[in-house]
Amino acid sequence: MPRRRMSLFWSVVVACASIYVFLAFVFPYAAMWIAGSENALPVPAALIAIFMALTIVGALIHVSTDDDRLREFLDPVVRLLRGWDRSEGYSTRAVARLAVLTAFPLLVGWVVYGAAAPDTRTPSLLRIQHPTMPGRYENLTNPFADVDEATRAQYIEEGTTLYQVNCRPCHGTKADGAGPMARGLRLKPADFQDAGTIGTVVESYAFWRIKEGGRGLPMAASPWDSAMPAWKDELSDEEIWKIVMAEYAIAGREPRKPESHE
Ligand code: HEC
Repeated sequence: MPRRRMSLFWSVVVACASIYVFLAFVFPYAAMWIAGSENALPVPAALIAIFMALTIVGALIHVSTDDDRLREFLDPVVRLLRGWDRSEGYSTRAVARLAVLTAFPLLVGWVVYGAAAPDTRTPSLLRIQHPTMPGRYENLTNPFADVDEATRAQYIEEGTTLYQVNCRPCHGTKADGAGPMARGLRLKPADFQDAGTIGTVVESYAFWRIKEGGRGLPMAASPWDSAMPAWKDELSDEEIWKIVMAEYAIAGREPRKPESHE
């Protein structure tokens, strides 16, 4: 009895599957044994993808360079997909065709849905409005705290100009958070006239927030991203301190007094 050769289609499928099994399961344990490691050494997924792509391209070249081979390769595919054959009845092939033709659109639909469905989960954590400031800012004090009244008024005026130029678009002319740009922000700037906002933090806290902006916030202030820009490259420390003084003056609030450590 002559031995029947496996059809070309199935030998290609089996070859690809064996190479995958080798890369994904055999190789990691072989490598573990050779290297004397305690754990399996998996082949990176990107590398498996490259090897599999090469395997498939190689198989397709082998199949398509000869007309007879191409016909032999496509034969089972064509036979499976060919229309309903009455004589066939409910043969295994008819069932397989139904299964393939049903499963394929479902699979494509599932993958597309998974990739395209919007993720509407809202952040499950509440944002911490005032996370702890970094240590290096904690002991900073306003260098202009002890100037005389006239100088203080002059600095506040300078700070007000800087504030109206740089901060007004978001924080509003009156520091009430009603700037024209604030409307477009999901996380809006707070109303600094409100007693619960900058009135509850020390001046160095405001200094930190202005200098480092949203980017300088620790993870605790997530999950919403803050649009507050970092000003350290734009403004000098002196300018920022003047803006801090102006900001409190505009909002009509007093900064919290730092706790004394005596
Ligand atoms: C692009 C819009 C935008 C601009 C411009 C902007 N800010 Fe902000 N700022 C925000 C937003 C939004 C927040 C609230 C989210 C946060 O705490 O980061 C904020 C927060 C702050 C806070 C922290 C308040 C608190 O209670 O912790 C301070 C202080 C502040 N801004 C000052 C300023 C100053 C001063 C300027 C100008 C030099 C300025 N901001 C420019 C958007 C802006």
